[in-house]
Amino acid sequence: MKLSKIIIGGCLIGTSFFVSCQQNSEVMAEEAKAQTELKEEPKEEKTLKMKEASELALLMRSMYEENLEIRKGIMEGEIPKSFPEDFVKIHSAQSNENLNETFYALAEQYTANLEAITAAKTKEEGIKAYNGMVNTCASCHTIYCQGPLPKIKKMRIPAPGES
Ligand code: HEC
Repeated sequence: MKLSKIIIGGCLIGTSFFVSCQQNSEVMAEEAKAQTELKEEPKEEKTLKMKEASELALLMRSMYEENLEIRKGIMEGEIPKSFPEDFVKIHSAQSNENLNETFYALAEQYTANLEAITAAKTKEEGIKAYNGMVNTCASCHTIYCQGPLPKIKKMRIPAPGES
């Protein structure tokens, strides 16, 4: 019993580091529920099945991190010449979600947005193209996996005077 508690605790801590598809509040409610269940039914062995991060989820995490680096560069006037090659895996990566044509159409738009960033000639064009890409992230995330949406919206580069 003690061991399983430790294992479950470890899993829960593990999940909180990522902005997963579930809203944070939902995750927290589930954690709280799991904990009370453990207290109320001490004899019953509870196994919490962790959904393993899919290939697409792992790609998304790196897209998030790396696009923040790109954001920093653009704000300093550096337009990236190219993108990490693995970004195109968005078209083929295996996912936990049921992906349909809308997903693939938005994924096309996303890679077109990336190309538009590399084609930008000025900082202003770079910012516009970068924000266009963030909009595509957000569009797709209003359909799939709403959890990261607030974080995605914060990735936009505000126009001068805007915050
Ligand atoms: C074409 C649709 C689409 C686009 C564009 C898209 N995403 Fe996602 N994203 C998804 C789907 C679907 C998942 C769920 C993947 C899964 O769990 O299998 C996901 C998952 C995520 C996750 C959660 C990963 C985890 O730990 O579970 C993050 C964070 C994320 N996306 C960030 C981004 C960012 C940042 C961008 C833009 C730079 C972006 N996404 C663009 C569809 C998209």
